[in-house]
Amino acid sequence: MKNKVTIPLLRQKKERGEKIVMITCYDYPSALLLDAAGADILFIGDTLGDNVLGYDTTIPVTVEEMIHHSRAVRRGTQRALAMADMPFLSYQVTPEEALANAGRMMKESGVEAVKVEGGEAVVPAVKKLVSAGVPVMGHIGLTPQSVHQFGGYRIQGRSEADAGRLLTEGQALAEAGVFAVVLELVQSDVAARITKELPIPTIGIGSGPHCDGQVQVFHDLFGLYPDRVFRHNKRYTEAGRAIKEAAEKFAEEVRSGAFPAPEQTLS
Ligand code: KIV
Repeated sequence: MKNKVTIPLLRQKKERGEKIVMITCYDYPSALLLDAAGADILFIGDTLGDNVLGYDTTIPVTVEEMIHHSRAVRRGTQRALAMADMPFLSYQVTPEEALANAGRMMKESGVEAVKVEGGEAVVPAVKKLVSAGVPVMGHIGLTPQSVHQFGGYRIQGRSEADAGRLLTEGQALAEAGVFAVVLELVQSDVAARITKELPIPTIGIGSGPHCDGQVQVFHDLFGLYPDRVFRHNKRYTEAGRAIKEAAEKFAEEVRSGAFPAPEQTLS
């Protein structure tokens, strides 16, 4: 396909100073829409758990659930790079298990890359995946699979020591071969410094404007949960409210007999 987003293209975008657009996506119709809208990366995040499956966190999400949703997204994606999150404990136990799980995710769903959370601790798994030909994106800062260790969703990199630790983690991941790294809730100046120091693209979420790209969660971007508000999020539409109002109108018209009208009645 013309203009297909590839891993080398993402690196070129950083070099040319072109921002990378990444949006989470969990199903076929959304993939068709986001791909047609020109998103560069459609990302089947393990936020599947809290946004689609009704879990409290991303922790319960399984490899099977990721494969199921990744298949649907892949079927609706042509131009964008389709990438899936490796769920909690699918890559941390041993590098061999990480490779077996990433292999299943790529072979059974067709995604072109995977993402893992963590710094030096995941370097052996990253090396194993990369040496087998699996493109890997890293993820540092606030890593939601470790939310209980962090004790909440807090900004990272506030102290000089913490900022230095994040930079070291980014460098370790880049040396291990990740093609890009998500910076989540990283203090803006620290994200700028990491972006400048690393040869690979940084993709920010809640990490300020200086990253090489930005990622947002589908449901946050389009207002699917009217009452869920995050400071780093900007809503580009209020789809949740629009759907609820439309459903109320449909219910009212069914109850009053206004639907179906003659136009919707087949003869
Ligand atoms: O799972 C997810 O949606 C993520 C993004 C927030 C980067 O990891």
